[in-house]
Amino acid sequence: MRRLITLYGSSVGKKIAMAATGAIMFLFVIGHLAGNLKLYAGEESFNKYAHWLREIGYPALGHNQFLWIFRFVLLVCVAVHIISAIQLALQSWRAREICYRKQESIAFSYASYTMRWGGLLVALYVIYHLFHLTWGSAHHNFDSTNPYQNVVDGFKVWWVSLIYMIAIIVLGLHLYHGLWSAMQTMGFNNPKYNAWRRPTASIIALVIAIGYISIPVSVLFGIVK
Ligand code: HEM
Repeated sequence: MRRLITLYGSSVGKKIAMAATGAIMFLFVIGHLAGNLKLYAGEESFNKYAHWLREIGYPALGHNQFLWIFRFVLLVCVAVHIISAIQLALQSWRAREICYRKQESIAFSYASYTMRWGGLLVALYVIYHLFHLTWGSAHHNFDSTNPYQNVVDGFKVWWVSLIYMIAIIVLGLHLYHGLWSAMQTMGFNNPKYNAWRRPTASIIALVIAIGYISIPVSVLFGIVK
């Protein structure tokens, strides 16, 4: 434990913490997309999936218990990810103040700038999304027994779909930079892999963004109704 705390104290440790928590959230984003794509299989299939989510682990675990454990893990990841990002940003500002990293490249500054603001926007989006599709207080016609209808009715409102699409594009950019820099932190910063890092990160981020964006677009065009 003490070793972990010492490691976290260093900037490499914070980057590892960001990569590890980012990886867990990334897996959630993929799992959530796979689940959401069930919308294309119809109302019954999607609602069955939403119901199953609440019964994972039954009878060892009670109704909703797995979901609460999972929410807790996700919340810890979000907190560690944000705190590490803020601490790393403060460290880098302090270093810049004493002209320590004058040669920092423009590309790197641009990436870290978009990561910080993009991360903040994604966090704000997730809060809106919870009020919209989990708790329903930001939804005009919420029915807690019918998640399928909540998604379809929600996305029929053009500006709601627009908010989702913009947020998902920002998420895609965040994932792209995040994956790229996580691969570097995890030791893929090697001439053998360098040429692959950018295309791999961009293909993964693009597939995820297209998958998510296809849902509001399909509702707006009446493909999913
Ligand atoms: C078109 C895109 C999306 C759709 C249709 C969608 C759909 C949903 C639905 C229906 C729920 C409520 C599940 C339930 O209570 O049964 C939900 C919850 C959630 N979504 Fe999304 N989502 C989308 C995009 C995203 C994105 C991009 C993220 C993350 C960046 C995200 C993060 C979450 C989280 C954290 C929850 C709460 C999970 C829980 O605690 O139960 N969603 N989403």
